[in-house]
Formats: sequence, structure tokens, C-alpha cells
Amino acid sequence: MGRFYLTTPIYYVNAKPHLGHAYTTITGDAVCRWQRLLGDDVHFLTGTDEHGLKIQQAADAAGKTPQQFADEIAPLFQDAWRSLDISNDDFIRTTEARHKVGVQQLLQACYDAGDIELGVYAGKYCVACEEYYTDEELLEGDLCPIHKRTVEFFEEENYFFKLSRFQDRLLDWYAAHPGSIVPEFRGNEALGLIRGGLRDFSISRTSLKWGIPLPWDPKHVAYVWFDALANYITAVGYGTDQARFEQWWPVDRHMIGKDIIRHHCVYWPAMLLSAGLEPPRGWAVGGWLLSGGEKMSKTSGNVVNPLDLTDEVGVDGFRYYVLAETTYGQDGDFTYEGLVARYNGDLANNLGNLLARVATVVGKKCEGVGPAPRPDSPLADVAATAYAGAVAAWADVQPSRALESTWSLLRATNAYLEANEPWKAEPGPAVEAVLGDALEALRIVAILASPALTTASQAVWERIGLDGAVADQRLPAGAAWGGYPGGLTVTKGEPLFPRQ
Ligand code: MSP
Repeated sequence: MGRFYLTTPIYYVNAKPHLGHAYTTITGDAVCRWQRLLGDDVHFLTGTDEHGLKIQQAADAAGKTPQQFADEIAPLFQDAWRSLDISNDDFIRTTEARHKVGVQQLLQACYDAGDIELGVYAGKYCVACEEYYTDEELLEGDLCPIHKRTVEFFEEENYFFKLSRFQDRLLDWYAAHPGSIVPEFRGNEALGLIRGGLRDFSISRTSLKWGIPLPWDPKHVAYVWFDALANYITAVGYGTDQARFEQWWPVDRHMIGKDIIRHHCVYWPAMLLSAGLEPPRGWAVGGWLLSGGEKMSKTSGNVVNPLDLTDEVGVDGFRYYVLAETTYGQDGDFTYEGLVARYNGDLANNLGNLLARVATVVGKKCEGVGPAPRPDSPLADVAATAYAGAVAAWADVQPSRALESTWSLLRATNAYLEANEPWKAEPGPAVEAVLGDALEALRIVAILASPALTTASQAVWERIGLDGAVADQRLPAGAAWGGYPGGLTVTKGEPLFPRQ
């Protein structure tokens, strides 16, 4: 038990929330919900990235000021997260005063450390990435490797962060903190970037006004990535509330996509080291959720609105799909057929059907009163193995494995019922034992599945007669076999997951 601070990337407000954003945010939410079950004091941060050229251009195109533009889009993210049952404790917008104060303090700290110097930048810039590229990195025809759009040539006086000085310090730091980036192969990508040599990067612009002025030279505004990364500290009080900052920093997990490894695993720890702050304790790097083989993005025009999908399979169905379908770290392919197949297979046929079946037989054979489980049930070991698997998987930020492990208990319980056929037997102790075991398995599954299924897990909990909130249960005690007391009213109710 301890404190646990997790962040998602802050999303650019040039696009509305889409499935790619939802994927990263739901994964972070599920990890936070798991940590709360473990008894941690959790702080879960998300927000929006509102400065920079990309937003300025999008606002210009819409005939609005960038602030008006951001003010319209940021609430769409807040609403989307509320609709998807995201349990964030805070939502930071980089146009907030608390953020500006902290960014300026961080800039000043790096400047005072001698790690920021004036220079001239001439280079090719992708506005969609807000990133300069070298000729070797660009695709033929000067196209950005990520957005496949033409880069722009910029030349201006910029301040530079002396990243080149940090190669050894970063390598030493990562050597002393093995496993801080999961999955491991993504950690190796980050180390490869560092070993490959580090170029100083520009941290200011004079051609742009939409940003935070440098405290020592206000003609310049901070480069959007320097500004954006700082959200992880400004939101917890850096520059405004030192005691709060010390309570939450260093962060336990930055959830990020593979496209922003360089910023988060190279630039960011170097910036922190420069300012005399501790680097993050952990990063969890996800792959892309592809749609038709392409990264979903506004620029590619293949965006899926997550809220449209919840109309069909519910919030739980959608959350379950994104968590269960893709191995975190790898790319995943979103398909509508996959969504429906997961829903029907894992949720309707497995979980929903088990609950309905048990409730029906308890109604017929036990007058609707759920019996207690047997201490020596054959399902007890299965439950212990499922729990251990879930613990290990969540610790590695592998929700699909955690859910697979949880579902192994459901499958074993369904098989156990098939083997014992309590619906055919006369009422009595044998039937009660089998049903008590199945109810106990459902109780444990309700807890273990609750990071994914925020509503259905509570419904299972209540239908088997338990009081209180499933989210208030604590592990490991909650997963110990024998917690279902028996003597509770079991209700069948409407199907939990009507088949699609
Ligand atoms: N604003 C920056 C992040 C700053 S964090 C200090 C940014 N924003 S973004 O809105 O373009 O995307 C943020 C993140 O959303 C990506 O890095 C990735 O984690 C996630 N995803 C966006 N599209 C995605 C997919 N199609 N698939 C999976 N994740 C994706 O970059």
C-alpha cells in the first residue's frame, strides 16, 4: 500500500476525442482502478495540450482565437472521459494559470543550471508532430514519417536545451532503474534513441505567440513540447504548492503511445535532471490502435468516435474490448466485428450467462437464497491462480493478460457447472455446495473485472446479494476464497449483456 500517481498524455485540442485517445486513457483508468483495489492512494491525471503552432493554425482555420478554440474542444475531452467512466482525479489544461507558473519555474531552473542556450535553428518541421526532422528521418519528398505530409522549412533564433550533455546521465539513470519502461522492448527503443546520440533541441519560438513566454526573454514562447511535458509536475503543485508536489512526485507511471517515446523517455527525464528533480519511476508504452492498418488520427481521416461504439455494446463492452483485445505495447487493430465478438463471447456468453444460470438455479433449488461456498472447493485453487495471474499482469501493465487470467476462473466455473449439472439434481447439500462455489467465483470475478467493467461488476455484486461498492473492496483479502457468506438473496434480473 502506498501512493500511486499515473498520467495519460495530454491530448491536442485540434481534434475531438477519438478511439486512439480513448485507448490510452481507458488503459490508464483501469490501472488506477486496480491500484485502488490494492489500497493505494491514487492520483490519476489527464488533460489537454492547448498551445503551439498546430492549435494556432487550427484556430485560424476555424476563424477563432486559439483560446476560444481550446475552450470549445477541451470540454469534449472532459465529457468523453465522463461518459467512458474514467476516474481521473484532475484534468489539466495547459492554458491554466497554475500550469504557466510551473512551466516558467521549470524553464528558469534549467536556464539557471546552464542547460539552455541561445542558437539559430534552421530545419524542416512537421506541424502535426510539432517536431523538427532531419533529412534522413523524412520520407521521400520531404514527408513526415508519421503524418506523411509535407514538412515546412523554418529558420529562427531559438533557445536550445542542451540534451547532448545528458547522454551518460540518462544511460546511468536507466541502468540504475531497470524495468522502469514497460514493455521491455519499448524500453530498448528508448535506450536505442539515447545510445544513438542526442541532439540539443529547440525549446522556444519567436515566430509564434500562442504559448508561455520564457521568463528571462519574453519575446520567445516555450516550445509546445517543453510546455506540455511540464503538465505532469505543474498539475501536482510544482511552482504553486511545493508540499503537494512532494507528495506526488516522482510519478509512478506515464502512460504514453509509442509515437512519443523520445519526448517522454529522453527529453523529459533530462529536463527533470537539469532542474534538479527526480525522473519518473515508470513509463508504460502502448502501441497504436490501428483502423484499416493506419494509425487513427485526424490527419489520416480514419477516426472512430468511441462514444458511437458505446451505443451498441455499452461503456463496459467498449472498455472491455479495448483492454482485452490488444496486447499493451503492440499495435492493435480495431474492428467492429472484433468488438461484437468479444462482447458476445466473453461478456454475454461467459460472464452474463454464468450469472443468469446460477441465479436461475438458486431460484429453483434454493428458494433464491445463495448458499456459502465450500472451503475445499476445486475452484479455490483456480481462483488463487487467476488472482496471482491478474496481479502480475497489472503490475506489468498488461490488461489483456489480467483479464485473460480473470476469465480463466469464469470458464472453469462454467465448466464446473456443466460437470455437476446442479439444475438436474434434487435440492440439498450437494447442489448448494456447487452453487455456493459458483457464487464465490462470481464474487471474486466481480472484483477482479471491476477495473474494466465499472458498471457490470457492481451489478454482479448486487445480484449475488452483496452490499456496498465493489470498487471499495480491497485486495488481496477480497480475492481470498471463502468471502461469500451465503444466506444472501440472489436476483436474476435482466440479462447483463444482451447479445448483439
Ligand atoms: N499533445 C501530445 C502529447 C503531450 S504529452 C505531454 C500528443 N497529443 S495527441 O493527442 O496527438 O496524442 C496523444 C497520445 O494519444 C499518443 O501519443 C498516443 O498515446 C495516443 N494516441 C493517439 N492516437 C492513437 C492511436 N491511433 N492508437 C493508440 N494511441 C494513440 O501527442
